[in-house]
Amino acid sequence: MYTGLRHLHSGLRYVVLLLLIIAVITAISGLLGKKAYTEGNRKLNLFTLIFTHVQLLVGLGLYFISTKVDFSNIGANSGIRYWTAEHSTMMLIAVILITIGHSKSKKALTASAKFKKIAVFYTIALIIILATILMAVSKGFITFWGF
Ligand code: HEM
Ligand code: HEM
Repeated sequence: MYTGLRHLHSGLRYVVLLLLIIAVITAISGLLGKKAYTEGNRKLNLFTLIFTHVQLLVGLGLYFISTKVDFSNIGANSGIRYWTAEHSTMMLIAVILITIGHSKSKKALTASAKFKKIAVFYTIALIIILATILMAVSKGFITFWGF
């Protein structure tokens, strides 16, 4: 169960990152090129939200079973602190930003306003997610490309 969830969560990072990057580039190009907001744009932004939420659900599951999440030993080492506090908090903020951005884009009335909400919220979330992953990589907890 733990190993399965861990591999799923680890692998899903690439799907989330790839979708986020494509969604951000598409939104910026739509905004700057004054393009129409198509059904394809809507689906891309929705799939990005859905995969991010699946990642959230798996992350929450891991949070309860991972041996690296341990409140009583949070000061024991930087690894325990990272997985217990930093990773989950930062990723949760990113997921919330994506959810708000998607909702605001859905409610916006013009194509440029729809692109703008995605461009702003998804970009900030992407930066937070990359920074949080790089924090773990730089401390040697994970490798960027490995499982
Ligand atoms: C397999 C897991 C999940 C899937 C497939 C999923 C999918 C979705 C979808 C399709 C939407 C609606 C997007 C729209 O507005 O069209 C949504 C919205 C939302 N989801 Fe998830 N989700 C999942 C898990 C979660 C979890 C675990 C949470 C919270 C802990 C969550 C919180 C929310 C919130 C707050 C919204 C926004 C509702 C709104 O716009 O008013 N989701 N999700
Ligand atoms: C977009 C959101 C997220 C991304 C991209 C992400 C990415 C990752 C990555 C790359 C790992 C390392 C996996 C490995 O060992 O190779 C990881 C581990 C972990 N994540 Fe996330 N995560 C996200 C959200 C969350 C959330 C919201 C939570 C909890 C609330 C969470 C909880 C955990 C836990 C507990 C681990 C450590 C599992 C273990 O090795 O014992 N993650 N995550």
